[in-house]
Amino acid sequence: MVGGIEISHVNKEFTNPQGETVRALHDVSLSIAPGDFISLIGPSGCGKSTLLRLISGLISPDSGSVKLDGGDITSPGSDRGFMFQEHTLFPWLNIYDNIAFGLRARKIFRGSEKLVDEFISLVGLKGFEKYYPHQLSGGMCQRASLARALVGHPKVLLLDEPLGALDAFTRMNMQDEILRIRAEQNMTMIMVTHDVDEAIYLSDRIVVMTPRPGKIISVVDVGLSHPRARGGEDFLAYHAKILRLLNYTISKPEPDYYL
Ligand SMILES: Nc1ncnc2c1ncn2[C@@H]1O[C@H](COP(=O)(O)OP(=O)(O)OP(=O)(O)O)[C@@H](O)[C@H]1O
Ligand SMILES: [Mg+2]
Repeated sequence: MVGGIEISHVNKEFTNPQGETVRALHDVSLSIAPGDFISLIGPSGCGKSTLLRLISGLISPDSGSVKLDGGDITSPGSDRGFMFQEHTLFPWLNIYDNIAFGLRARKIFRGSEKLVDEFISLVGLKGFEKYYPHQLSGGMCQRASLARALVGHPKVLLLDEPLGALDAFTRMNMQDEILRIRAEQNMTMIMVTHDVDEAIYLSDRIVVMTPRPGKIISVVDVGLSHPRARGGEDFLAYHAKILRLLNYTISKPEPDYYL
């Protein structure tokens, strides 16, 4: 099986508009086995998107290495699919053409018509091929983005808060879709989320990060079988554990302004 990622002692700095150095990632190491579902969770600014962008090859580390199946990642490639919080569909293309776009750009579309149809069905958009993005709901646009990221059969799917803009019900449905797709397609999935329950519901392992400088403080193995009961005792125990790691506990004293 392919899609293993090895991140070793990665450091990444940026310069902010004031000319100061921001240490986005400090000595980050992480091994991701092929086929793993990993969530990255942590407060804003802890380097989650930076880590995904390093794996996508959009940016490079200052030091350390990021490897996919043993080879250094030096640039973006079709072996990695990316999906963002807001859909990035082209407004002037219909859903079919949006999903086929990457295949056409890579000149491998001819003969792939069935593949595009297959992925349209997989994400539940059959019958909507001729619709334009503005004629669909947010959830449907995210499904189309997912199909577009999947259609090139990437080894690794990178998801940066892909469900963050959806209402709670659409979001839970999409989580089930992602699990269903994962069961059908062999690939590694790495997802950034701020939603602790979402991370527990979907992941094999949850990587907990803290900011200033961004680093990994814990990797939690989620030892629950699927389907997972969101309100189950074990589930809630993981929820409490992650919140504790993030320094949010129920017993935290109330802030002064409540008194
Ligand atoms: N291109 C850039 N130029 C300057 N600073 C950057 C750049 N990209 C990221 N940073 C800084 O690096 C740090 C980590 O950013 P990153 O986007 O990875 O955080 P994040 O964990 O994804 O946050 P959020 O949850 O808000 O999306 C932040 O302080 C951010 O301001
Ligand atoms: Mg981010």
